[in-house]
Amino acid sequence: MNKTPVIIDCDPGIDDAMMLTLAFSRPELDIKLVTTEAGNVSTDKTTYNTLSFLTYIGQDVEVARGLEQPIFRSLEIAEDIHGEGGLGNVKWADPILQESDRTAITAMYETLLASDDPIIIVATGPLTNIGALLLAHPEVKPKIKLISWMGGAAVGGNMSTTAEFNAYVDPHAAELVFRSGVPIIMSGLDVTHKAYITREEMEELRKLGTPFAEKAADMMKFYTFTQSQTPFSPPHFEEQIRLHDVCAVAVLVAPELFKGNDYYVEMELEGRLTAGTTIVDYTHKTGKEPNANVLHSVDREGFVKLFFEACTTIGQKLLEK
Ligand code: RIB
Ligand code: CA
Repeated sequence: MNKTPVIIDCDPGIDDAMMLTLAFSRPELDIKLVTTEAGNVSTDKTTYNTLSFLTYIGQDVEVARGLEQPIFRSLEIAEDIHGEGGLGNVKWADPILQESDRTAITAMYETLLASDDPIIIVATGPLTNIGALLLAHPEVKPKIKLISWMGGAAVGGNMSTTAEFNAYVDPHAAELVFRSGVPIIMSGLDVTHKAYITREEMEELRKLGTPFAEKAADMMKFYTFTQSQTPFSPPHFEEQIRLHDVCAVAVLVAPELFKGNDYYVEMELEGRLTAGTTIVDYTHKTGKEPNANVLHSVDREGFVKLFFEACTTIGQKLLEK
């Protein structure tokens, strides 16, 4: 099988952990490196959570710590959503996996240059590490096949009325990525708000009968997103558990489940009320060439099936250990 080389940059985070579950369940992905940054919680915690979760699911991969702060803005985290530790109230494992002695940027730089084939970067947190990498080492751009990012939104926000969290935390890094010329698949809220499991489906997950599935269901139970139903929300919005970050990997392994369009995207950096908004030019008013494929639709049933298959694979493998 031809394996696709991948680097994952994340801020675990409950849905980041579920993204890692999908990624490490797929034999067609060759995950070269996992890097962490501040986002949902501090870099100390996202790094610990990554080591802990990957230890629990039995993976042996380099984990390199990333930057502690956004490029310009002061850090704002999401403990209210992911819990003080960042993975809800679930304790996965005392890490056996050790943190790399390379920083995230050095590890990404050296991994990209050493690879014969261009590498896909999956990014599911603020783009701080990747923005800084592209600024410091533009020569790696030809070695990045594409960036599959969970972030932004053409319409609406979850950190402010107009800005999604990952874009809001580090809009300057996001702008460096959108300007870079590297191909981007953007899984913004437009699609991730449709990529949810219901509480009933979450309880179905427990019936897979593995300790992993039990813990994953417990963790997602914590993640009942506190964004309240508004007149603009889809029906039963509060009852849905949105697996935002899973989309950034799902679109790579099952692209047929998604629909998107190519648009020009630019970051709002300075707006008093709108800083961090991804301005998606879906009316083509700017006349500028598209720089991202912005996803807008997902086959939800197919997405849930893919996610359950991943949980089954990981859970069964752990029972066989
Ligand atoms: O807006 C959702 C994003 O913010 C996800 O990546 C979630 O993990 C948080 O980081
Ligand atoms: Ca995340």
